[in-house]
Amino acid sequence: MKKQADSSRPQEVERKKKTFGRVYTPKKIVDLILDLADYRGEKIVGKHVVDNSCGDGAFLAEIVERYCRACPDNLKSNLETFVHGIEIDDEERRKCLARLDAIAARYGIPDVRWDVVCADATRFKRFDAKTDYVFGNPPYVRVHNLGASFDRVKTFKFARGGMTDLYLVFYEIGLHMLRPGGTLGYVTPSSFFNSLAGAPLRDCLVRDNLLEKLVDLGHYQVFNATTYATIVVLKKNRTQETTDVYEYDGTLKPVDVLRRDDFFLNGAFYFSSRANLQTLKEIFALGKVGTKFRVKNGFATLADSFFIGDSLDFEHTIPVVKASTGKRTRCLFPYVDGRLIPYEELSQSPELAAYYEKNVDRLKKRSLENPDAWHGFGRSQGINDVAKSKVAVNSLIRNADDLKLTPAPPGTGVYGGLYVLSDLSYEEIASLARRQEFGEYVALLKKYKSGGYYAFSSKDLKVYLEYAYAKREQTRSR
Ligand SMILES: C[S@@+](CC[C@H](N)C(=O)[O-])C[C@H]1O[C@@H](n2cnc3c(N)ncnc32)[C@H](O)[C@@H]1O
Repeated sequence: MKKQADSSRPQEVERKKKTFGRVYTPKKIVDLILDLADYRGEKIVGKHVVDNSCGDGAFLAEIVERYCRACPDNLKSNLETFVHGIEIDDEERRKCLARLDAIAARYGIPDVRWDVVCADATRFKRFDAKTDYVFGNPPYVRVHNLGASFDRVKTFKFARGGMTDLYLVFYEIGLHMLRPGGTLGYVTPSSFFNSLAGAPLRDCLVRDNLLEKLVDLGHYQVFNATTYATIVVLKKNRTQETTDVYEYDGTLKPVDVLRRDDFFLNGAFYFSSRANLQTLKEIFALGKVGTKFRVKNGFATLADSFFIGDSLDFEHTIPVVKASTGKRTRCLFPYVDGRLIPYEELSQSPELAAYYEKNVDRLKKRSLENPDAWHGFGRSQGINDVAKSKVAVNSLIRNADDLKLTPAPPGTGVYGGLYVLSDLSYEEIASLARRQEFGEYVALLKKYKSGGYYAFSSKDLKVYLEYAYAKREQTRSR
């Protein structure tokens, strides 16, 4: 049997995906980006266009197609002069060239000397300030997979915001390439809407009034991975002060036309209708000042199958609620008054000692907050509140109907989600949280998870409860 080529071996494909961020763009997304950037018709003739991470040419193929259709004469020299590409992997570049040759051949143009170079775009300067259009699907490479390029990548302004990803740096590279009035169209992860790492990019987009159009792809999976993506069209030196916002779930739907004050709230990006964003502003404003609720994360044992289970029949067990399901079970809780009981004391019980001895290796292998506390939970969260009355809450929902609120009376622990502490009763807390509006609020925060779910944090829930409570009090006092 013929040996499989190296580059097509699954491990090699996976390696290139990780180190080069190799994910191909489907044609309908390429078409959508070029259309949104209005890269079509006669106006593209004589305009420089670059894909700075062109891979096997998903964008360049459509660009060349459009150029060939639009250009009446001197097509060969036009293609050589105005269409450009950069790709770090020569094997990909060669695939791209073959693809472009085949398109040009259909238009009767042989032997085009394509300006598609094998280079690292983070070092490449030739196109700076000379390009009319920049397009692409930049590589997504997490900071810890950057290897030798880490130090250089960190010198970029858009990489100064924490756990960076290479795609953020490609925004900076692309913007450098644009000449005044130039247009950039990318599909990238949407994580920069609210990530710490995305802060320098967000600030630049707002400060320089660059954001012309934005398509939120929501839960729609372009790349068959768990990457939640957005299409962004930027334009340099715009006079218009608004952004056209769309959603896409296979078809494009206009959402609204927003000003920067509509979508840039507390330093993060939120995209929805202006009316929804007004409500969000009110939630943030009222939610910030309240003091009626504390919301925290439940136990993190880092070994649930050891500490939690119906069959646990030892001393030192307590009832526990799994916040994500509302299920009640038992939990080995080796604490008194929030303090870890010494192992010597616990092991006085022969059954408990035997249970620990059987699991000692895996318990010690956890990444423990305190390595000496190997017989306790991995983290201390939730331990001090066991004696208090609480309401357990799941932290992943599709809409308000998925919200689960479970009373966790004094003496009961909570794991697998959040819990609320308040002097309000369970019924009152439930009536504030179980609202359609809460589901809409969580959807607006856009923390996408697979299966159509959205995540929310303890802070997100606290802000909403404080807002809902303050609104209720306002209505009552009228
Ligand atoms: C997400 S893929 C997109 C490929 C193609 N543009 C598409 O849309 O199908 C990113 C590409 O960037 C290339 N790449 C990664 N790091 C690069 C760098 N520093 N300079 C240039 N290209 C790079 C990868 O090899 C990969 O082909």
